[in-house]
Amino acid sequence: NTPDAHVPRDPRLIRLTGVHPFNVEAPLSALYDEGFLTSPELFYVRNHGAVPHVTDEEIPDWEFSVEGLVENPFTLTLKQLLLDFQKITCPVTLVCAGNRRKEQNQVRKSKGFSWGAAGTSTGLFTGVLMAELMRVAKPKRKAKYVCMEGADKLPNGYYGTSVKLSWVMDPERGIMLAHKMNGEILPPDHGKPLRALIPGQIGGRSVKWLKRLIITEGPSDNWYHLYDNRVLPMSVSPDEAANNPKWWKDERYAIYDLNVNSVIAYPAHDELLSLVNAPQMYRLKGYAYSGGGRRITRAEISIDKGNTWRLADVEYPEDRYRQYEQTLFGGEVDLAWRDTSFCWCFWSLDVAVEELKGAKDILVRAMDESMNAQPRDMYWSVLGMMNNPWFRVTITEEG
Ligand code: MTE
Repeated sequence: NTPDAHVPRDPRLIRLTGVHPFNVEAPLSALYDEGFLTSPELFYVRNHGAVPHVTDEEIPDWEFSVEGLVENPFTLTLKQLLLDFQKITCPVTLVCAGNRRKEQNQVRKSKGFSWGAAGTSTGLFTGVLMAELMRVAKPKRKAKYVCMEGADKLPNGYYGTSVKLSWVMDPERGIMLAHKMNGEILPPDHGKPLRALIPGQIGGRSVKWLKRLIITEGPSDNWYHLYDNRVLPMSVSPDEAANNPKWWKDERYAIYDLNVNSVIAYPAHDELLSLVNAPQMYRLKGYAYSGGGRRITRAEISIDKGNTWRLADVEYPEDRYRQYEQTLFGGEVDLAWRDTSFCWCFWSLDVAVEELKGAKDILVRAMDESMNAQPRDMYWSVLGMMNNPWFRVTITEEG
């Protein structure tokens, strides 16, 4: 019996830590098979502690505050939020900064648990742009950051972090407060009844069970902002990091935008490929994403250890799912993230079975619109985050 006994969960999810808190990913093939939108049942979960218990009856009265360096601080219920502000709906891929950390842990143990490559999922989120709340709150001149705090009480205080106010005010970034996922009330594990959503950035910035927005001059001093979600220099060992707070207080190492990444879902790693009586072609498949609204512009496959690369087909279901329930600010400004991409895309490539025979490894690498490419080599760091070297599966041929 855990504090989360009230939370429904799918038995297909793979637990990455002990019984509690709940940290899970789906089997990669099952995640991939669901397609563009991930069902709540298979959506990855990253919880630092117990899930706040909020009944459906309590949802309208959920209160959150906007405070700090603003002319008009206020407290709002979720009901008021939805009555007073325009709602938008858009698809967003969330990715834990620890996605693919297992590969880092195999090279050298990091301080984090081993995510496979399914620490990512996509939802269709509905809510209100945070910028609209800022227009009411009126940030003061010195204000530069928006700190967010959740309702989950943890060993080091409430979970919290921050983003830049200028990002919040930029409608291209689509930063919002969301109360629905895939048209339904947010599931308890994903922030019921209200969460922040920071598209294009690591999942750790999208605070769940949101209670407070605090406008400040500097970045958050919350423990989880300082000691989580960072890529420290490779030379900093776990001991050095543990004994020197200076590494954690240096905002330059905090992660915001996701980096470019791609993985192979089919075939699975170590899959026994039955190539003997197989059809002539095998379809290699997987996903790719990048950060900061940057679109993936290519995915390339190598079956000869990176000597030569073939261009895969890439599909962007995001373009079909985009919905604009309202235009922003009473129609003055069109909701703008038409040119930005906040979702994963899917690549595929047909390869002759004859060619796969004898190929021990299959590699994928992607590039985004800023020509950011996945590196060949791993950048290991203490927290094992943002792992994105060329993704490799090893296949075995059946006898
Ligand atoms: N918000 C709160 N309040 N508490 C948390 O533990 N985890 C963060 C973020 N927001 C967390 C949180 C992390 S590290 C990630 S990756 C995402 O939530 C995961 O969101 P999900 O569980 O809905 O997939």
